[in-house]
Amino acid sequence: MKRIVVLISGSGTNMQAIVEACQTDRIDGEVVAVISNKADVGGLEKAANANIPTAVLSHREFDSREAYDAELLKLVDSFTPDIVVLAGFMRILTPEFAQHYHGRMLNIHPSLLPKYRGINTHQRALDNGDTEHGVSVHFVTEELDGGPVILQAVIPVFPEDTAADLQQRVHSQEHRIYPLVVQWLCSERLKLTDKGAVLDGNLLGPQGYAPD
Ligand code: GAR
Repeated sequence: MKRIVVLISGSGTNMQAIVEACQTDRIDGEVVAVISNKADVGGLEKAANANIPTAVLSHREFDSREAYDAELLKLVDSFTPDIVVLAGFMRILTPEFAQHYHGRMLNIHPSLLPKYRGINTHQRALDNGDTEHGVSVHFVTEELDGGPVILQAVIPVFPEDTAADLQQRVHSQEHRIYPLVVQWLCSERLKLTDKGAVLDGNLLGPQGYAPD
């Protein structure tokens, strides 16, 4: 059983999907802590309801990103995780933090990377007139939203869609694909190598795992 620490900043629905997958043996792992950089977010309540230890470390109490991430690293490591899962954790990470968890830290990002790194991804997809949008799970490296993609899910964009419509459609795909990728990492089918993400010995392409 792998020990998983989940970092959140908000509603924590992806965290909850991962917790439920652990509880129903779809993931060979256990969420041992949920850490948020914001107090009073829905995800903390969801974790507490599932009897998972929670902690809040507010970035507002630190003078620099480096000082915050150094303290966050200590806090995360106090739970001795095998895997760190970023689930709506809205912070840019220092290279030191990313390197410390190299090969064992995942992120979910609401766009078809490499498109739309950063924020406001749904609005940017609409503004560009995209007919397809989606979500990516990737390994975290020093480059913001730039680590090797592992799995993507594509959603259609309809002419009358708003950013909220896209967010909702993306969210439901997120809850399907994130637990799957966490399980790949827990079961050691997935590895990060110098060449990129490798699943079952096969190097994944720029869009991650694609059947056929
Ligand atoms: C998710 O849509 C996730 O893709 C996004 O935040 C949301 C968190 O939802 N992450 C990012 O934008 C990271 N750059 P949740 O708290 O309900 O899981």
